[in-house]
Formats: sequence, C-alpha cells, structure tokens
Amino acid sequence: MIITVILTVVLSLVWGSEVIHPPFQTGDCSMCHVKTKDGYSEALTVKVPDLCYMCHPRKDDKKVVHNPVKAGACTLCHDPHKSRTPKLLKADSLNELCLSCHPSIQRLMAKPNIHPPVKLMGCTACHDPHSENNELRLKMPKKEICFMCHPQIKDVRDNSPNKHSALLIREGCLNCHNPHGSDHPKYLKYAIPKDLCLSCHDKVMAREEDGKRIKNMAKHFAQNKDPHGPNQWGDCVMCHNPHGSENYRILKGSFPSGFYSSFSKDNYICFMCHDATPFTQKETTVTGFRNGKLSLHYIHVNKDKGITCRDCHDWHATNGLPHHLKEYTEFGKVKFPLNYTPTKNGGFCGPLCHPRRGYDRVKPVVNPR
Ligand code: HEC
Ligand code: HEC
Ligand code: HEC
Ligand code: HEC
Ligand code: HEC
Ligand code: HEC
Ligand code: HEC
Ligand code: HEC
Ligand code: HEC
Ligand code: HEC
Ligand code: HEC
Repeated sequence: MIITVILTVVLSLVWGSEVIHPPFQTGDCSMCHVKTKDGYSEALTVKVPDLCYMCHPRKDDKKVVHNPVKAGACTLCHDPHKSRTPKLLKADSLNELCLSCHPSIQRLMAKPNIHPPVKLMGCTACHDPHSENNELRLKMPKKEICFMCHPQIKDVRDNSPNKHSALLIREGCLNCHNPHGSDHPKYLKYAIPKDLCLSCHDKVMAREEDGKRIKNMAKHFAQNKDPHGPNQWGDCVMCHNPHGSENYRILKGSFPSGFYSSFSKDNYICFMCHDATPFTQKETTVTGFRNGKLSLHYIHVNKDKGITCRDCHDWHATNGLPHHLKEYTEFGKVKFPLNYTPTKNGGFCGPLCHPRRGYDRVKPVVNPR
C-alpha cells in the first residue's frame, strides 16, 4: 500500500500529473464502448463526434468551424481516455498540437522575435480551437483583437489630433504587424521599418483630414541617393510615431508646418539629436554655417519670422550637395533654385531671398546689403 503511494508520487513527479477523462476513470467502459459477453469491444456505442456530444455542448455551432472539428475528428486532438496534457490533448503541449498541423506557423517560430502571448498563453489566447463567429476563429474581430491586450494603442489611434490612416484602412494593425512573430523586435512585417513605410508610401497620397498632398516617398528616396542619418539605417520611427501623434506629420516631437516660423528651441524635433547652440547663440564656432563667428543659422532661423530648416535642408534624403542641402526650395507652389556652392571654408547661396551672398569661417565675406 505505502509502496504504491510512493510509486504514484514518484511517477507523477517524473511524468507530470495525468488528466483522466471522468467517464474513463469510472472504469465503466460501456459508457462509450459496445458490451460483449467477455467484456467490451473497441467498437463504440455511438460514433465520434456524436458520442462526445452526448455529454458535451456542440463545438461546431459558430460561423467559422475549424476543419478537423467540421470533419468530426475530435480524437485527432483529444485522447478520449487520458493524457499528460491538460484538456486531454494528444501532444506534449497546446502549441505543439497546433504547430504539428500548421507548418507555416511552425517556420515562423524560428524567427528571432516571437510575440509573447504566442509562447506564454498559447495559440488559444487568440484563436478558438473549435469554432467562433470571427474570421480565423479569432476571439475578437481581426481589426479589434489587438485591443484585447493593447488598449493604449486604440487610444492613440482614435484620439490623436493627427491620425495615421494606415491603422484604419484594410487590415488595421495587421497592415504592419505580424501577430505571431518576425525578424523585427516589434513584430513588423518587414525587418526594416523603412521598407514597411515605403510599401504604402510609393504613391502620392491625400491626407484624410484636409486632402493635402503627401509626396511619393519611395520615389523621393530613389531619386535622392544620400539618406539623412536615421534613414541610412531605415529607422523612420526615430522621428515619426507610426500610430498617430499630437504633432504635425505624426512626428514624435514638434516641427513648424510653414515656410516661416517664430523661433523656439522646443519647436524643432531636430534638436533631439543636433546641438541647438548655433540657433540660440548669435556668435559661436560650433557650426559650419557662419561668417567668421556670426552664426548664419541664428541669423536665418532665430527670429519672429524666421525661416525653417525645410527651406535649406531635406532630412529625408538629398542628392549630391553636402550637409543635406537642397537644390530647390518651395514657396507655396513655386520652386526656386538655392544655387548653393561650397568653398574651402564656407559657401555661397542665391540669388533667391536676397542677392548672392557668401560666408567664410576664416576670412568673413563682406556681402552687399
Ligand atoms: C468517453 C468515452 C470512452 C470511454 C469511457 C472509454 N473509451 Fe475507449 N475509446 C473511446 C474512443 C472515442 C476511442 C477511439 C479513439 C480514436 O479514434 O483514436 C476509443 C478507443 C479505445 C481502444 C482502441 C485503442 C486506442 O486506445 O485507441 C481501446 C482498447 C479502448 N478504447 C479501451 C477502453 C477501455 C478498456 C475503457 C474502459 C476502462 C474505455 N476504452 C473507455 C472512447 C472511450
Ligand atoms: C484542432 C484540435 C482540436 C479538435 C479537432 C477538437 N478540439 Fe477540443 N479542444 C482543443 C484544445 C486546444 C482545447 C483547449 C482549449 C483551451 O485551453 O483554451 C480543447 C478543449 C476542449 C474541451 C474542454 C474545454 C471546452 O471548450 O469545453 C472540450 C469538452 C472539447 N475540447 C471537446 C471537443 C470535441 C467534442 C471535439 C470534436 C467535436 C473537439 N474538442 C475537437 C483542441 C481541439
Ligand atoms: C459520458 C459522458 C462523456 C462523454 C461521452 C464524453 N465526455 Fe468528455 N468529459 C465528461 C466529463 C464529465 C468531463 C469533466 C467535466 C468537464 O470538464 O466538462 C469531461 C471533460 C472533457 C474534457 C476536458 C478535460 C480537462 O482537462 O478539463 C475534454 C477535452 C473532453 N471531455 C473531451 C471529450 C471528447 C473528445 C469526447 C468524445 C470522444 C468526450 N469528451 C466524451 C464526460 C464525457
Ligand atoms: C489535425 C490537424 C490540425 C490541428 C492539430 C490544428 N489544425 Fe488548424 N487547421 C487544420 C486544417 C486542415 C485547416 C484548414 C486548412 C488550412 O487553412 O490550413 C486549419 C485551419 C486553421 C486556421 C485557419 C487558417 C486559414 O488560413 O483560414 C487557423 C487560424 C488554425 N487552423 C489554427 C489552429 C490552432 C490555433 C490550432 C491549435 C489549437 C490548430 N489550428 C490545430 C488542421 C489542424
Ligand atoms: C496575439 C493573437 C494571436 C496568437 C497568440 C496566435 N495567433 Fe494566429 N493569427 C492571429 C491573427 C490576428 C491572424 C490574422 C493574420 C493576418 O490576417 O495577417 C492569425 C492568423 C493565423 C493563421 C492563418 C494565417 C497565417 O498566417 O497562416 C494561422 C494558421 C494561425 N494564425 C495559427 C496560429 C497558431 C498555430 C498559433 C500558436 C502557435 C497562433 N496562431 C497564435 C492572432 C494570433
Ligand atoms: C492576449 C493578449 C495579447 C494580444 C491579443 C495581443 N498582444 Fe501584443 N503583446 C502582449 C504581451 C503580453 C506583450 C509583452 C508585454 C508588452 O510589451 O506589452 C505584447 C507585446 C507586443 C508588442 C511589443 C511591445 C513592446 O513594447 O516591445 C507589439 C508590437 C505587439 N504586442 C503587437 C500586437 C498586435 C499588433 C496585436 C494584434 C494582432 C497584439 N499585439 C495582440 C499581449 C497581447
Ligand atoms: C503603419 C504601420 C503600423 C501600424 C498600422 C500599426 N503599427 Fe504598431 N508599430 C509600428 C512600428 C513601426 C512600431 C515600432 C515603433 C518604435 O519603435 O518606435 C510599432 C510599435 C508597436 C507597439 C510597441 C509599443 C509602442 O507604442 O511602440 C505596439 C504595442 C503596437 N505597435 C501595437 C499596434 C496596434 C495594436 C496596432 C493597431 C491599432 C498597430 N500597432 C498598428 C507600426 C505600425
Ligand atoms: C498600410 C499603408 C501605410 C503604411 C504601411 C504606412 N503609411 Fe503612412 N500613410 C498612409 C496613408 C493612407 C496616409 C495618408 C492619409 C492620412 O494619414 O491622413 C499616410 C500618411 C502619412 C504621413 C502624413 C500624416 C499627416 O498627418 O500628415 C506620414 C508622416 C506617414 N504616413 C509616415 C509613415 C511612416 C513613417 C510609415 C512607416 C512606419 C508609414 N507611414 C507607413 C498609409 C501607410
Ligand atoms: C529626422 C526626422 C525624420 C525622419 C528620420 C523621417 N522623417 Fe518623415 N518627416 C519629418 C518631418 C520633420 C516632416 C515634415 C516635413 C514637412 O512638412 O516639410 C516629415 C514628413 C514626412 C511625410 C509627409 C511628406 C509630405 O509630402 O508632406 C512622409 C510621408 C514621411 N515623412 C515619411 C517618412 C519615411 C517613410 C521615413 C523613413 C524612410 C521618414 N519619414 C523619416 C521628419 C523625419
Ligand atoms: C538658410 C539656409 C539654412 C537653414 C534655414 C538651416 N540651415 Fe543648416 N546648414 C545650412 C548650410 C549652408 C550648412 C552648411 C555649413 C557648412 O558650410 O559647413 C548647414 C549645416 C547644418 C548642419 C551641419 C552642422 C553645422 O552646423 O554646420 C546641421 C546639423 C544643420 N545645418 C541643421 C539645421 C537645422 C536643424 C535647421 C533648422 C532648425 C537648419 N539647419 C536650418 C543652411 C541652413
Ligand atoms: C534621430 C536623430 C536625428 C534627428 C532627429 C535629426 N537628425 Fe540630422 N543627422 C543625424 C545623424 C546621425 C546625422 C549624420 C549622418 C548624416 O549626415 O546623414 C545627421 C546629419 C544631419 C545633417 C548633415 C550634417 C553634416 O555635418 O553635414 C543635417 C543638415 C541634418 N542632420 C539636419 C537635420 C534636420 C533639419 C533635422 C530636423 C528636421 C534633423 N537633422 C533631425 C541624426 C538626426
């Protein structure tokens, strides 16, 4: 007696606890098997799945039924007698069961980044194994399922003053994310955010709110071979919040929207990475854009009606000129050439807003008024 108890304890430690189907545990096999004169045959009194439905509610009564359930093949997944896996599953774990029939998801599991609920909670965190009213037997409609666990992104999507339509069109969150896992740490569909962004931004678009034109970024990058800083490594989301933002152009910080702007250090997302000194101090040597010590960055930008970085630079990409300087600037619908020419210790620019003028860091240029 004592030996049996010890053996059971040891075995259950080694094997884990066993789940025994209550009708099997009764030892009365005739609940399911046909009685013969010397015991029971393997033949069933009622065939599966109707046998199971004698005691369990139907599993195929919602709109989208899993194929093996539709086929009545309950015992492909469940052992009718006992199992070491909860819910009498015929595999060592829930996920192993699912993956055994879904090689495409099995291959995904080799990716370096797996969405935590897939591993921690298992496939049934989102999919019902039997039947459900939503596409793919998801526990919520496809466009809503993420909000079961990420309500804060719903808040950003719906309540940001500047919205990104990418979250609302077609497949919603799934336009950009893979729910299972991917090469990117935020489970993006592309390893590099830039490739993701350009998969939609490969045409001119119109803004949802005001119909304003948004340029074809893929074309812009194809035509301009010198990408700026973060764009060299494809990281558009250093500056943009992909879900929406309170700032102009869904930026993660402010940036003025017009040709002119009254200067404040806090208005420029650029200073997240660049030194603001040349813009706040009239005399400095920490910028190349100076005539002697006079900071021309300060002169141009730091005013009530200062001009903004966009009038001289393009921080997405430029083509050939140093310092991401543009060949042309736009004033409304008109395009002007900047005519920038670098020299050994400075450069020349214009005529545009003023006659052609120059700067030199060593021997300051005396410009016409
Ligand atoms: C809840 C219903 C149920 C009960 C109770 C039950 N069985 Fe089964 N049994 C089945 C089903 C269903 C199958 C067919 C399994 C399959 O298709 O894989 C089966 C298959 C079998 C088989 C064939 C081999 C195998 O394991 O697939 C044997 C032997 C068997 N049962 C023995 C028993 C004995 C002995 C008892 C009583 C101690 C018993 N069963 C109780 C449902 C039951
Ligand atoms: C594709 C595999 C698969 C098939 C086929 C399948 N099941 Fe299941 N079943 C599961 C999984 C996985 C769970 C555990 C769900 C969980 O933990 O959320 C489960 C849970 C259950 C449960 C316990 C929890 C509940 O939902 O009531 C019952 C009862 C059940 N299944 C009955 C059936 C019956 C009856 C059939 C055949 C009509 C069937 N299953 C077919 C995978 C399957
Ligand atoms: C004679 C009644 C009876 C029949 C027939 C029957 N079951 Fe059950 N089953 C039960 C009872 C009772 C439980 C325990 C209560 C519960 O979880 O609903 C149970 C529990 C289960 C569970 C959950 C086990 C767990 O770990 O929680 C699964 C899965 C299951 N049954 C599958 C099946 C399948 C598949 C069939 C058909 C092959 C079947 N049952 C046939 C009575 C039955
Ligand atoms: C016995 C094999 C088998 C098992 C085990 C199995 N499935 Fe399936 N599943 C299928 C088949 C067959 C289909 C229909 C063909 C297809 O679309 O792949 C399907 C379809 C699906 C679909 C819909 C695919 C689509 O593109 O429409 C999802 C989602 C799914 N299964 C999830 C699961 C989950 C989650 C589990 C584990 C609880 C699981 N499957 C376990 C066989 C299985
Ligand atoms: C966090 C929720 C979630 C979890 C957990 C989850 N899925 Fe999915 N699954 C989805 C969503 C959402 C889709 C729809 C994807 C789409 O349409 O782009 C999907 C699609 C699928 C599809 C069909 C389309 C395809 O990509 O082949 C299968 C099969 C599938 N899942 C199986 C599984 C399996 C197996 C597991 C467990 C290893 C699992 N899922 C875990 C949410 C989830
Ligand atoms: C069942 C709950 C659940 C569902 C449903 C779910 N997630 Fe998650 N997700 C988590 C958990 C848990 C984490 C890890 C904790 C965290 O970082 O929030 C996570 C993490 C993430 C992360 C990484 C977060 C970070 O800061 O690194 C992304 C991206 C993500 N989920 C996207 C999605 C998308 C897209 C969907 C819808 C297809 C979705 N999730 C549905 C539970 C869920
Ligand atoms: C336009 C593509 C795109 C869409 C659509 C999208 N995301 Fe993201 N998501 C991203 C990118 C890119 C990141 C990484 C952001 C970063 O690193 O700053 C991200 C990050 C996340 C994170 C990590 C935490 C965070 O705030 O950075 C979660 C959670 C998340 N997304 C959930 C969702 C949910 C839920 C939806 C649907 C409402 C959704 N995403 C729609 C591109 C997208
Ligand atoms: C699924 C398609 C899709 C993807 C992927 C996508 N976008 Fe968009 N994006 C749009 C659409 C449609 C608009 C125009 C409508 C709107 O948002 O008002 C837009 C608008 C924008 C705008 C202008 C927003 C405004 O309010 O002025 C910016 C900036 C932007 N996207 C950046 C990005 C970045 C960065 C990525 C990559 C993380 C990205 N987009 C990925 C579809 C997409
Ligand atoms: C250094 C910060 C920064 C990075 C990195 C960045 N952007 Fe931008 N982006 C901006 C700013 C600032 C604006 C506002 C430009 C304006 O209105 O002149 C903008 C505007 C946009 C617009 C709207 C264009 C229009 O015609 O109004 C799109 C689309 C866009 N960015 C996509 C991207 C994509 C795709 C990437 C990655 C390849 C990216 N951005 C990387 C700062 C950045
Ligand atoms: C009037 C045109 C003009 C405006 C407006 C302008 N820049 Fe410049 N910027 C230049 C020129 C010209 C250079 C090249 C200086 C040189 O010869 O090295 C430059 C160089 C730079 C450099 C390289 C480091 C340095 O200071 O030499 C950075 C960073 C920079 N600008 C950022 C900005 C930012 C951020 C803004 C807006 C807040 C801005 N610029 C506005 C013309 C301009
Ligand atoms: C996330 C960090 C980051 C932000 C934000 C950022 N930059 Fe840069 N920037 C860099 C890096 C890294 C480089 C160096 C690589 C290169 O030249 O492209 C750089 C280089 C530059 C240069 C050329 C410097 C030189 O010495 O030639 C200019 C001009 C410039 N940035 C302008 C801007 C403007 C304008 C903004 C705001 C719209 C901005 N940057 C925002 C990271 C950033």
